[in-house]
Amino acid sequence: MALPSMVRIVEVGPRDGLQNESAMVPTAAKIELVDRLSATGLRTVEATSFVSPKWVPQLADAAEVFAGIARRPGVAYPVLVPNLQGYERARAVGADEVAVFTAASDAFNRRNTNAGIDESLERFAPVLERARVDGVRVRGYVSTVLGCPYQGAVPLADVVRVARALHAMGCYEVSLGDTIGVGTPAKARDMLRAVAAEVPMPALAIHFHDTYGQALANVLACLEEGVAVVDAAVSGTGGCPYARGASGNLATEDLVYMLHGLGIATGVDLDALVDTGAWLSGILGRATGSRVTRARATA
Ligand code: HMG
Ligand code: MG
Repeated sequence: MALPSMVRIVEVGPRDGLQNESAMVPTAAKIELVDRLSATGLRTVEATSFVSPKWVPQLADAAEVFAGIARRPGVAYPVLVPNLQGYERARAVGADEVAVFTAASDAFNRRNTNAGIDESLERFAPVLERARVDGVRVRGYVSTVLGCPYQGAVPLADVVRVARALHAMGCYEVSLGDTIGVGTPAKARDMLRAVAAEVPMPALAIHFHDTYGQALANVLACLEEGVAVVDAAVSGTGGCPYARGASGNLATEDLVYMLHGLGIATGVDLDALVDTGAWLSGILGRATGSRVTRARATA
């Protein structure tokens, strides 16, 4: 199959990236990060997360962050919500797109949200209902699609079932997450193919963590299947605090470099993105996880 001519990147650095930082990042820096990212041409920037601050203290300032960003017309700013309480907090500061999240592995979902998969879907029902009435768009995540740190192998049928359920509930897009980055290209392709048999491809996105260095290869295999929405995090930040062994996401800079090299449009200014990644690694006080940003720094 031909590669897509255009890919929409969902930048998850301000959420997936910063939720996994051990040091507290100042609120002003989080706001600046979102604003710098939206200035690069990215059309979707996941801004923060309204989960329980007891579970993820790193993003306890979600309301201040969301209220502080300069929202650009044409840019979507989804925020993570685990339940109705999170939805209400997000709405109180004007969020108009949210993301709910569950997993294909019950063992992981219990550690991450203190609920089994079906219980989490029940929790989302009132969120989806309220969102429908409020005209709020809802994205859905399925975690552990290619392996679970607690359960091990994850049957494809479980991934398909959960993705189908989120789509049927009203999620306009379902992001398939390799939370611990253990997947390889043929497995990623087979997983996507199985889900796409039940959920239309335009409603699917992919979300690869790069723990084993497979993320770009996995993305390419999935692009060949026709997916055209890819999640990534600037500077390769990220990971889930409740997924043992999870490390950073695919770096957005590296994704953009590959896509542009393949002649696929993203609308993103790579130079501005690299500057943002370099700035963020300065804020975090450690080397960037992006090969492209590293290469540009020494070029
Ligand atoms: P729980 O402890 O079972 O919840 O947690 P609860 O309803 O019993 O509430 C306990 C306390 O939390 C109460 O406060 C609630 O008010 C409060 P208390 O009465 O003790 O003072 N609370 C909240 N406060 C603010 N906002 C809320 C909220 N909800 C409850 N929304 C819960 C259940 C789901 C809340 C918790 O487990 C949680 O927040 N988990 C989030 C974990 C998380 O954020 N993980 C990372 C994101 S997922 C991810 O990274 C994967 C992804 O990137 C894709 C991939 O890579 O695969 C998306
Ligand atoms: Mg993730």
